[in-house]
Order: sequence, then structure tokens, then C-alpha cells
Amino acid sequence: MSVLKIALLGFGTVGEGVYRSIESHGERLEKILGKRVEIVAILVRNKQKQRKISGNILVTDNFEEIINLPHIDYMIEAIVGREPAFTYLKRAVEKGSNIITANKEMFAYHGEELSLLAADKGVSLGYEATVGGGIPIIQTLRQLLKVNNIKKIKGILNGTSNFILTEMREKKEPFASVLKTAQEKGYAEADPGNDVEGTDAFYKLMVLSKLAFGFQPEWKDVHVEGITSITREWIEEADLLHLKFKHIASVEWKDGKVIASVQPVLVGKSSPFYDVEGVENAVSIEADLVGSITLRGPGAGMFPTASAVIEDLAQSRHQTDREAGSPIRDSVDQDSQKEASYWLLDRVKKKVADPSIEWLQQHPNNKWIIKSSVKGLNRILDQNPGTEAFPVLAEMIEKESSDLFTASL
Ligand code: NAP
Ligand code: HSE
Repeated sequence: MSVLKIALLGFGTVGEGVYRSIESHGERLEKILGKRVEIVAILVRNKQKQRKISGNILVTDNFEEIINLPHIDYMIEAIVGREPAFTYLKRAVEKGSNIITANKEMFAYHGEELSLLAADKGVSLGYEATVGGGIPIIQTLRQLLKVNNIKKIKGILNGTSNFILTEMREKKEPFASVLKTAQEKGYAEADPGNDVEGTDAFYKLMVLSKLAFGFQPEWKDVHVEGITSITREWIEEADLLHLKFKHIASVEWKDGKVIASVQPVLVGKSSPFYDVEGVENAVSIEADLVGSITLRGPGAGMFPTASAVIEDLAQSRHQTDREAGSPIRDSVDQDSQKEASYWLLDRVKKKVADPSIEWLQQHPNNKWIIKSSVKGLNRILDQNPGTEAFPVLAEMIEKESSDLFTASL
């Protein structure tokens, strides 16, 4: 039987997971692919580290030794950051290898160029593992894109942030110690700032935007906020209102523009994100024919992510995205400033009289639920130093207003 030769770039949480999954599911892959799958080379940064790798595999810290091998069917990339990952994959494609990546930072920047190059060279490109860990969100979108028009995608896209928010609420653990646990479990990025400051979710959202709408919004126009400002006290206050903080990334097609944001949001029981806890991710897709679908599952970690990579490997047919060939638009004129949305405010000393601000409900400690544009909100914050504001999901207010407004404090 012939052999499918694989080079693995990276042997950390994801790389090792892929290695172990190929070991454990080799027979199944062989049946699907009609070839025995064999890892022939592994790239690492530090060759001296002790690793459980079979002796006949080339383990190297020099990419040239891998790219100069006579034939590689698949190059699977799970290293860190934009470079050298992009250059390595480009060279692999130019040499005729199929590629699979888990690296969302590299793919958010260079996905389009790699897609075009892969299409040009007739090789396949898999990137299921870049978004949502083990959730098959890329395959699902590809399936829906055949006929449906996607209107909106909204989700919890960072497992580390959701894990931290959950542990802080349920176990009253401090932020720093929960982050350390997330790192030990292999959920966090090499630089965990990417997780807790929203950058990782932003990269994933840009990958989804490109796939669903054919382009990304202008990056500088996207509001990106992480979870570092959420204190245990805020989490407890929200709990009293039957609300939970969730880190939500959202992208939608509206009036011919793509509008995106990444931020902590308060959600209530009717939200599909309310019960998504720990390292889980969830993604809701709204499309014109199917309506709304929510997928949910493990968003990070060794085997869920390896599952996404292995499923890409099992898709032996070449995949094409609708986005291949569509250029990223230069600028998206966002004007979310004018649109009214709901906010929970704390310690409001002075109500601002403005017809565009609706003061909906007062709670103890001068907390208020309001409906206002960002412009109106900024007026309130200017006149109330020390007041904090968090967005509340609009769907939730509409469905649960009576519940929320009578919540006992
Ligand atoms: P990790 O545990 O830090 O492992 C990174 C691996 O890549 C290590 O083996 C490291 O070598 C190697 N490496 C890093 N930079 C390199 C370079 N410049 N040249 C050669 N080797 C290099 O990271 P990870 O968690 O597996 O994540 C890998 C990629 O998958 C990242 O892009 C991440 O965003 C993405 N991802 C991670 C998860 C997850 O749950 N962790 C899920 C989805 C996607 P050494 O072992 O010698 O240090
Ligand atoms: N650090 C990422 C997360 C890994 O926590 O979601 C999965 O992409």
C-alpha cells in the first residue's frame, strides 16, 4: 500500500495532539484515504527538549531539511505567529504539498494569498483548526455558503477567556491563577495576552469574515476589547441580575458593509451563549434560508484541535472557498456610533437629558439599564467620571425584559 507522507511543523499542544491522533486513528485514516499515513519529519524550535517521538522520524530545528525532502504530501503547521509560518507554508505550496494550518494569526493576515496560491498550484488548504477548536465551523460555513447568504456570525471564540470568566464566577478564583491553569491545560496562546486582550478572537473573526462575506472589515475600524477589565466584583454584580459576562466576537453584513466587534458582553438565560462554560466555544450563524444555527463544543486544547486538523486531512478532495479570488476591500465605512444599543451602567451620579438616551430601569447603587447610541453613552461617561458601562445583548433585553427588570439585587 502506498504512503501519505506528512511533515509536522510544531510539536506543542496542537502538534503533539496531531501526532498522537495519527497514532491512535491511523487505521481509520488509512481506510478513508486508501494510504498509510506516516509522519516523516517534525520541525521544532528546541531540538534538545525530551519528546516521545518515534526514532525513525526526522526531528529538526532547520526547515531547510524538511523542504528539501524529496516528497511531502501534507505539511501541517502548528507553530506560533505570522512568521516564519507564512513563508514555510508558501514554500510548501510552491513545491506541490497540500497544507493544513492551525495558526489563526498567520491565516488572518495571509489566508487569501495562501488560498490563491494553493488554488493556482492545485493543492488543498485546510484551516478548520484556526477557529473554534474542535467545532467544525469552517466546514459548516462552506456547506451553508453553497446556497444560503450568511447575514451574521456571533460567537464565543476564545476558550481561555471563557474558561477564566467561568472559573472566576463559579470558583471565585482570581484572574491570574485561572489564567495559569488555562496555560497548564494548553488552552492559552504562547503569548496569553492574545487571549485575554481579545486579539486571538479578533483573528478568528477575521478568518470567518473572509470565508462568509468574501472580505474582512478594515482592521482599525473593529472595536477589540478583552476581558482584563472584568473584575470579580463585576461578575458578582451581574450574577445578581441573572446576567453573565461572555466574550463575544460578532461580524455581520449590513447595508453593504461588514461590521465587526470583539468585546465582553452581558447575556441572559435566553442567549445561546449563557450556558457555554469553561473552555467551550459557541458560534451562531444567521443565514437567509436556514435561519439561525448555533454550534458549540471544546474551543481549545490538544485533542479537540487535533480533531479539526485530522478532519481536514481526511478531506482528500480539494476544497475551495467562495472567497478565493475576492480581494479584501480597502476600507469599510463603519458608522456604529449612531446606532442605539443596550448598556448596563454602574454608579451613575448624574442622569444626562438627551432624547437619544432611554433611561430604562434603575437598580440599587445607581446602576442603570439604558438604551443609547455610543455617542450618547460617551456623553454620560464624560459627565460621570468613575462610571463603568458594559454592553447587554439586545435580543436578551427584548426577550427577557420583564425578568431582568424585576431581578432582585
Ligand atoms: P505551543 O504549545 O507553544 O507549541 C508551539 C510549537 O511550535 C512548539 O513545538 C515549538 O517548538 C514550535 N515552534 C514555535 N515557533 C517555532 C519556529 N519559529 N520554528 C520552529 N518551531 C517553532 O503552541 P500550540 O498551543 O500548540 O499552538 C500552535 C498553533 O496552533 C498556534 O498558532 C496557535 O494559535 C494554534 N492553535 C492552538 C490551539 C490550542 O488549543 N493550543 C488551538 C487552535 C489553534 P518547541 O517545542 O521547541 O518550543
Ligand atoms: N488560545 C486559544 C483559545 C486556542 O483559548 O481559544 C484555541 O484557538
